Amino acid sequence: MTASEHTGDRGLPGPETAQGRALFEELLWVHSFIRRDLATIERLAADVGEGLAGDAVQDALAELKTTGPLWQLKVNCLRYCRFVHAHHGAEDVLLFPALRAVDRSIGPVVDRLEADHRRVSDLLDVIETAARSLTDPEGGDARQHLIDSLRELHGYLLEHLDYEEARAGPTMRRLDRLAT
Ligand SMILES: [Fe+2]
Ligand SMILES: [Fe+2]
Repeated sequence: MTASEHTGDRGLPGPETAQGRALFEELLWVHSFIRRDLATIERLAADVGEGLAGDAVQDALAELKTTGPLWQLKVNCLRYCRFVHAHHGAEDVLLFPALRAVDRSIGPVVDRLEADHRRVSDLLDVIETAARSLTDPEGGDARQHLIDSLRELHGYLLEHLDYEEARAGPTMRRLDRLAT
């Protein structure tokens, strides 16, 4: 399929393909996990944040157990950051070049998606650092820092997912393969 095969007034490249629809369904599936797991981590962080005002010594001892809420939050945050990094990395390398290759008009959309990825990557790095500090006795106010960073990520990431689905979806459903 080439860019010259554009059809319709939106300049989309040809008809939808079975492969493209499957790729888009997979994207929606992965995004559903990203949305769900962000909500889970935000809930864990809020629970830990509320413990700030509790009985300091007993709460700290309970939370520092590997099954305690602080460890659970740390492990889940680090796993979540790795997952989102990996998803965005795959899109940067495989999906976005394929979109640009078949749809010349999609350049500004992909430019914005790539910029979103860089911004989200920076926020994930901040969250990873705060998560690692959670169980560090010298970690300072890592809990509040993490809660604030998650709040900032929430806005950027969810808007990114919505935009990607809405604006890249039509071209994605017309792909016959990813970049190789
Ligand atoms: Fe993305
Ligand atoms: Fe995505």
